Amino acid sequence: MKFTFFGHSSFLVETMGKKLLFDPFITPNELAKEINVDAIKPDYILLSHGHADHVADVERIYENSEATIISNYEVVGWFGAKSLERGHPMNHGGSWEFDFGTVKLVNAVHSSSMPDGSYGGNPVGIIVKNTEGCFYYAGDTALTKDMELIGEEFNLDFSIMPVGDNFTMGVSDAMKAAKMVRCDQVIGVHFDSFPYVAIDKSESMQIAAEKNVQLTLPEIGQTLSL
Ligand code: NI
Ligand code: MN
Repeated sequence: MKFTFFGHSSFLVETMGKKLLFDPFITPNELAKEINVDAIKPDYILLSHGHADHVADVERIYENSEATIISNYEVVGWFGAKSLERGHPMNHGGSWEFDFGTVKLVNAVHSSSMPDGSYGGNPVGIIVKNTEGCFYYAGDTALTKDMELIGEEFNLDFSIMPVGDNFTMGVSDAMKAAKMVRCDQVIGVHFDSFPYVAIDKSESMQIAAEKNVQLTLPEIGQTLSL
């Protein structure tokens, strides 16, 4: 699998010949100016919740591509009402077999409303599993014991977790989450995009090292082979 970081909590995973884009928030992100949003043509757009810092560029990228939106029922319905009709609604605990593998939605402890203030359902974490591997994107979440269920059910190759603190887990809780999901390969996201989520990278790396977790804090535009 190939992982490319677009800043904040936005990234592309290429797997099974498909492009999966997660939580696009690129054009409003001062730090992501070098990313050409119109060059991103995913097959799927997967959304963890409705907050603007996760959905800001959905409409633009949808129009530029043939992408299908995968998220909870309310988020898919909100975009559907705006004539973004290629959508697949799911909800917590549910799995579905797509042409790139299985998606399961799991709990995230956070909130969810759409950019216009309307109800966004409950926020989700997203697990993708196929013959190339298995990963967990935590979305925006607090640390929660529910994560142990993920470790029991899946053999994760890597996970993508927020580490910016204030609105989500900080790095210490993310390291506990890594233990709960039984996967020591963590890509940290949701940091440095605005002052509330600014982190000290070297301190974060040190905390991870003390917990024997392989933490990667990707550069914007960086691609990782996983
Ligand atoms: Ni959020
Ligand atoms: Mn967020």
